[in-house]
Amino acid sequence: MTELRRPALLDASRHDREQFDSGEAVLDEWLRRYAGQNRRRDTAATWVIADASDVVVAYASIAMTGIDRSAAPAALAKGAPDPVPALLLGRLAVDHRHTGLGIGTALAGHVLATAAELNETAACRAVVVTALNSKARAWWERLGFNLFSPRADRLDLYLLTADIDATLRRLQ
Ligand SMILES: CC(C)(COP(=O)(O)OP(=O)(O)OC[C@H]1O[C@@H](n2cnc3c(N)ncnc32)[C@H](O)[C@@H]1OP(=O)(O)O)[C@@H](O)C(=O)NCCC(=O)NCCS
Repeated sequence: MTELRRPALLDASRHDREQFDSGEAVLDEWLRRYAGQNRRRDTAATWVIADASDVVVAYASIAMTGIDRSAAPAALAKGAPDPVPALLLGRLAVDHRHTGLGIGTALAGHVLATAAELNETAACRAVVVTALNSKARAWWERLGFNLFSPRADRLDLYLLTADIDATLRRLQ
């Protein structure tokens, strides 16, 4: 199996993004064209897992967000201000030549550990994500994420920071 590096912040001068192909053109394009721009503007940070040649095989972008309290489930809203402070996992994708190996799970685990750390220094009630489609939604649910709404067509999910430790323990 290809040797992989630990998750690292995207370094435009080092990481090779040109060959990245998750099978979702919008996600590939975002990594190539917008990840650097979002970093420079302080609107999203991108973490990557790269191989030994610095070719990116997976990425996740994150940013601080606020959840509309009136639209939040009770577990999120109870005792919280409006908006509820949270971390947005904006995008996560794995190159299709490397899927099914646990890389997506490892990167999601890294983001969850980051949220737990951030919670200590800045307070962050939950991690939120909008799944790309219903298949991806099942993938997030497997990691412990909960649906905002039980409706079958909804793709918004959250994981309380208080539940992150339990998820990380399960992944070990
Ligand atoms: C979804 C995606 C991130 C998964 O990455 P990955 O590296 O293949 O995932 P992992 O190897 O860590 O996870 C595989 C595990 O998830 C399970 N799994 C895979 N697809 C699943 C699904 N649709 N529902 C539930 N579980 C699923 C596998 O059975 C496996 O479980 P196991 O470890 O118990 O055997 C990747 O396929 C991808 O980038 N897809 C395109 C973009 C996308 O959909 N991104 C999601 C953003 S919303």
